[in-house]
Amino acid sequence: MKIQIINGPNLNLLGVREKDIYGSLSFDEYFLKLKTKFKNIELFNYQSNIEGELINKIQDVGFDFDGIILNAAAYTHTSIGIADSIRGITSPVIEVHISNTKSREDFRKKSFISPHAKGVIQGFGLYGYDLAILSFLND
Ligand code: DQA
Repeated sequence: MKIQIINGPNLNLLGVREKDIYGSLSFDEYFLKLKTKFKNIELFNYQSNIEGELINKIQDVGFDFDGIILNAAAYTHTSIGIADSIRGITSPVIEVHISNTKSREDFRKKSFISPHAKGVIQGFGLYGYDLAILSFLND
């Protein structure tokens, strides 16, 4: 099974940025744990701060991989381009957010991704990525 994690803008600053909301672990540290935990899966990790690069990655893997775990971060709330790219591919996409966006500012309550995602996991910290993998494994 091949699963691609795609993280959007500012998620390269996990462990540094707003630790009260996003925790003190960097994504690289967490990803190492994830790979150890799910040894039987081919797990890939990609991050970009640039909208078009996220779309390119979604298109690159979206016809071949068994699943995409997408945290589009702030682009979740703004990007019709990313939403359209998910509509255009065949791999299922699970939307993940570290924080519970529904309990935060109003502008975070809108997601352009959710209508096209297989499901949404949010508010469980980095464990949300574990949950997304477990859900793909359960299919
Ligand atoms: C986030 C929530 C977004 O609203 C925010 O812009 C992020 C991270 C999350 O994982 O909780 O950068 O996607």
